[in-house]
Amino acid sequence: MSESLTVPKPVIRPRRLRATEPIRQMVRETRLTPADLIYPLFVTYEKDTRREIPSMPGQYQLSINHLIEEVKITKALGIPAIILFGIPPYKDAEGSDSFSEDGIIQQAVRAVKDAVPDMWVITDVCFCEYTDHGHCGPLKNGTVDNDATLELLARQVVSHARAGADMVAPSGMMDGMVRAIRSALDAEGFTDVGILSYAVKYASAFYGPFREAADSAPQFGDRRSYQMDPANAREALREAQLDVEEGADMLMVKPALSYLDIIRRVRKATTLPLAAYNVSGEYAMVKAAAANGWIEEQRIVLELLTSIKRAGADVILTYFAKEAATYLQQ
Ligand code: PBG
Repeated sequence: MSESLTVPKPVIRPRRLRATEPIRQMVRETRLTPADLIYPLFVTYEKDTRREIPSMPGQYQLSINHLIEEVKITKALGIPAIILFGIPPYKDAEGSDSFSEDGIIQQAVRAVKDAVPDMWVITDVCFCEYTDHGHCGPLKNGTVDNDATLELLARQVVSHARAGADMVAPSGMMDGMVRAIRSALDAEGFTDVGILSYAVKYASAFYGPFREAADSAPQFGDRRSYQMDPANAREALREAQLDVEEGADMLMVKPALSYLDIIRRVRKATTLPLAAYNVSGEYAMVKAAAANGWIEEQRIVLELLTSIKRAGADVILTYFAKEAATYLQQ
């Protein structure tokens, strides 16, 4: 082009607010802090064990003594809460270790609350790690028996509350689970123990690494008769609404990254605090790409977590919790 063309000069210049870091900080709309994070931890019945999970580098199956060390570090980083998953010494048809007074989770909760009393301890409430068939409740005619599961859920949450859990997080997608749990806790005097419901949980391939970590893969079939179809969004609002009515204190959407639209919709539809679970497959993809030098891990992690918050989550369950808290302190 030889001659210069006249173009209108902009009057409005959004770049003014991007010019330097101080102004960018001032107009930033979403802030991620360590206080937004919940760190998931896997506790094993084995003694003095710290076994790295191959598909989740940096995450471990921990015996109780190592778990305590991890919880202290987590607390020191400003992360207010953990969620515990158990690897029991035995599995059976009902998943009975999950509601035994001396089950792995019950022992772990007692030990953590004893060593770090001001850590907020959430327990994952499910059966898939504890049943020999790997499904999320006892079976009848080859599928999970919803109402029989509710009775066992009631026993499980009461045993967690007796051990000192601050909050229980049912993840099995059984109909009526929040109501059954609220009524069992209240009947036993645990009116202060809260419920974080995995209200909107999809039947997702992103849970693959977790099932290795927690040894909880179903031995036959899949979880599509209880977890949600990834194609459905209106159904998410229905599930969320039911759990509000049944008495949940907080709701969760899971997974997070392929479901940012769902986080946004649930955020708009309810007034309860909303959590999102940045699940194992989401973690594994970032770790694998970073290990190959293909992405800048620190920037990617903060960008992903910020996107989950921007979509509408108040808190994020994430295996990146410790790393993110460290980056945020820099
Ligand atoms: C147990 C449970 C699962 C996860 C959390 N609780 C596995 C599943 O539903 O198969 C997945 C967490 C993750 O992938 O990080 N029901």
